[in-house]
Amino acid sequence: MAFFVCKNCGYGSASWYGKCPDCGGWNTLVDKPEFNKNPSKKSESTRKITITPFNKITSKNQARIKTGLYELDRVLGSGFVPGEVILLTGEPGIGKSTLILQALKNINVLYISGEESGEQVKSRADRLKINLDKFLFSNDLQVEGIIESVSTLEVKPEVIAIDSIQTIYSKSIEGAASGVSQLKEVTKLLVNFAKTNNLTVILIGHITKGGEIAGPKTVEHFVDCVLAFEGEKISNYRLIRASKNRFGSTDEIGIFEMTPSGLKEVTNPLVFLENEKNLIAGKSVIGVTEGQRSLFFEIQTLVVPTALAVPRRVVKGLDFNKVQLLLAVVTKFLNLPLDRFDIYVNVIGGVTIKNTASDLGLIASLISSFKNTPLPKNTIFTGEVGLQGEVRKAVAEEKIITEARRLGFKKIFSSKMMKNIKELKTLI
Ligand code: TYD
Ligand code: MG
Repeated sequence: MAFFVCKNCGYGSASWYGKCPDCGGWNTLVDKPEFNKNPSKKSESTRKITITPFNKITSKNQARIKTGLYELDRVLGSGFVPGEVILLTGEPGIGKSTLILQALKNINVLYISGEESGEQVKSRADRLKINLDKFLFSNDLQVEGIIESVSTLEVKPEVIAIDSIQTIYSKSIEGAASGVSQLKEVTKLLVNFAKTNNLTVILIGHITKGGEIAGPKTVEHFVDCVLAFEGEKISNYRLIRASKNRFGSTDEIGIFEMTPSGLKEVTNPLVFLENEKNLIAGKSVIGVTEGQRSLFFEIQTLVVPTALAVPRRVVKGLDFNKVQLLLAVVTKFLNLPLDRFDIYVNVIGGVTIKNTASDLGLIASLISSFKNTPLPKNTIFTGEVGLQGEVRKAVAEEKIITEARRLGFKKIFSSKMMKNIKELKTLI
């Protein structure tokens, strides 16, 4: 039976299509594909496996390579590990190339760019006042060529940075660069090269807002660390977090601010709070812990009567489904007729909070907007809310409370203060 496979994304089908139903590429389905990566192993005889007791295996405790950007090093787990492969993802224009230049300025690097010319990289470095003496540069994008050329270098770089993985291709795969088959092959070759030569490889990958399925996500399982560089382009704050980290934790976040002279590290835990004198209805301050430190954010909620049969729900900076769930809890346990209101939720500063400790503060801001009454000054909220409206302890609640007191917050609403969100209604 004939079998057709898309040379771009690997989609398989018994019938031929002019347009691949999966990736949308035209004329990419081919018969009897030559790039079958799983040749039959039928001819291989059964082999005995080697079994080694763990007390005969020594762990490698290698020195880390510090970038000098503490916010990044902390997320990585005190710097890179030689041989580590890192995928740095983010939307175009968020600042990935800038971050790489700043992070690698003191390290011997081979920077391969398929996006910019050497002149462009140089002029950006000049603007950032970064000396590129330790950088080697190439615009050549064939992965086999890159590997061979680096192998023959007398002084090997410590880090190879590839900007971006979508522009690199392997000669052994037919499809265009950035196709899934190409991305997988290129990544596999580079991972193998990194491990055998003890070099760190950083792969930059563009993703779009929705997280684009057929892109860098398909290679996440090959790499050691996946970093997401996030933020709204209109806001200057950028967050970096690891969604996977074989050599460190995934709890830490790093915060940067994009300035005309590059990315600046942000250490102030109150940086996301607006310093307004007038109290505004619908605004609450929440405390969460991200790894080692406590951070404070402002949530703003607007509740307005709806003119629609199905009211609008717009959420920025929090998980949409979680907010929906909390709205249901509020409707049931606080008896608020939310189905007659449009609700808009926003986290100030263009950041995304992925922490359940924000639940209580979101509900407080909702009630505050609903009643058109500002929350008291110097108040923070921290706590997870369950489906019965019960307030649960936030992760590292004690730490958040101590830090909040130190920073001058007077009223701290947490699971210590209240057991159910019903108690909020009387407070506001
Ligand atoms: P860039 O690192 O090129 O983004 P990416 O590699 O993720 O596509 O950064 C793009 C934006 O950052 C660009 O719109 C301009 C801004 N920027 C600054 O604001 N200050 C700076 O010092 C630099 C280098 C860039
Ligand atoms: Mg770039």
